[in-house]
Amino acid sequence: MEEGLPVYGKEPYFDDPLMYQLYQQVEHTLGIRASTDALVQLRKHLNQIQTLVHPDQPITTPIQERYKHIFASSEALFDLAQLLTVNETYFFREQVHFSVLLRELLPRFSTLNRSLRICSAATSTGCEAYSIAMVFDYYNQCLGYKPLSWEIDAFDIDRQVIETARQGRYTANAFREDGTQWKFLLDRYVSAAGTEYTVDPRLKDHIHFYLHNIMEGLPIQGYDLIFFRNVFIYFSLESRIKVTNILANALLPDACLMVGISETASIEHPLLANCFKEDAFYFQKKTTEAGSSKGIKQAEPRTPRIIPKHPELSSRKKGLTIEPDRIAALIVDDTEARLTTEKTLAFLAAEQRHQDDGFAGMGNEFMTAIIALINQGDFLRADRLLTFIEQYDNSAYTNFLRGEYFYLKTLPLDAEYSYKVAIQQDKTFWPAFYRLSSLAAQGNPVRYVYKINQALESISQGKERGYEVFIGGFSPDYYQRALEKQRNKGLLNHSQPR
Ligand SMILES: C[S@@+](CC[C@H](N)C(=O)[O-])C[C@H]1O[C@@H](n2cnc3c(N)ncnc32)[C@H](O)[C@@H]1O
Repeated sequence: MEEGLPVYGKEPYFDDPLMYQLYQQVEHTLGIRASTDALVQLRKHLNQIQTLVHPDQPITTPIQERYKHIFASSEALFDLAQLLTVNETYFFREQVHFSVLLRELLPRFSTLNRSLRICSAATSTGCEAYSIAMVFDYYNQCLGYKPLSWEIDAFDIDRQVIETARQGRYTANAFREDGTQWKFLLDRYVSAAGTEYTVDPRLKDHIHFYLHNIMEGLPIQGYDLIFFRNVFIYFSLESRIKVTNILANALLPDACLMVGISETASIEHPLLANCFKEDAFYFQKKTTEAGSSKGIKQAEPRTPRIIPKHPELSSRKKGLTIEPDRIAALIVDDTEARLTTEKTLAFLAAEQRHQDDGFAGMGNEFMTAIIALINQGDFLRADRLLTFIEQYDNSAYTNFLRGEYFYLKTLPLDAEYSYKVAIQQDKTFWPAFYRLSSLAAQGNPVRYVYKINQALESISQGKERGYEVFIGGFSPDYYQRALEKQRNKGLLNHSQPR
């Protein structure tokens, strides 16, 4: 299995069949697509336990059989989870969701005249649950006409993080720039002593922290609001579908669901309507049973046109000229696009190949022709050009176009794989991230079209913001920064962007 970014779509390849069995077992039980590193750690750990419990069992016994008792036990899984999960979290992460809570939801909740039940699912160390609690308490103390009665259920599968959550004590790492707009609440509810930050213990009275595996459903139903953020990215498609059903069914009519910003496009459920307020996407449970919870409709991938454009690509890559602006200019003009396509196909037919002096300078023409052919659905000729180019150029741009080829051929798994390769070539190649989030996604037409329109508008106005809308709210340098952070921690090659 390749290191680095999560594997989208394609199952990873393992030389060792036992590792593959373990991967499947983890995916089935926890929903998570585990990294190789995590699996190696897990296997080591399981072997130690196993040697103690069944010292005579042959090493070749299938994993499902060998570790059956461990995977069947919730308690054992809570201990193992820390080897498999990414617990990254901080206060007021993805702060727009808290704006929605304060400005949209709490005023509406106050008209209900009843106690409210909130869930912070996969809460990690509890920063999310405490952030929600701060907003509620602040509303009650300072804004609301009549105080709201509220409770938060907050769970995670990892024993260690739940312990931290219960203690409510943190280091500076739990406070990031992303949440600075809420500093006034942090000042109000968090006290510092040396390097330790303690949450106001009064908030704990409203929060019930407990261990739980979301794959087993939700023990409590009837929520007014559920946060399930930044977990789907680690889940397989099957697990995402299963968990979306669980969440949708646990919401009261009109209640809301927040998922991570990069995950919003991955939700499509007959019981959930799209909402967009305060610059945030979220979901509201439909009041009618129309289209009831038979499961998520598997939407076909969308097929919008996209012209990859990236500032760092405006240079020669591996001897081939690739200038996104020039490609964009060629492709938007139908006549130019057609002539360019003919020219490149003629070039190929003449078998001039790369020895020809002109080839290195024809990168723009090749890319234009490939995009044009893909968009026309002429996959045969697009494939010929792509296969030719791939012999000489392995840049993010070429891999991205291979992804586009698969994508528009409705081969989403192959497409995801190529996009992932593009991202490994260039960690800030936003069109590939964009496609991945929408594919991961299985497509949600309303948000998708909205984002495309916004992106086109901002690009046409020459705004940097174009990048943000394409990759689901992340800033252009988001992945670069995530990478640097990992490099500083010495985790590079082993961790994933968060
Ligand atoms: C990246 S953290 C996200 C924390 C928080 N929701 C946020 O957005 O900041 C993902 C959390 O999901 C938890 N998790 C993963 N699989 C889970 C499962 N099957 N059931 C419950 N929690 C799970 C992990 O232990 C981890 O703490």
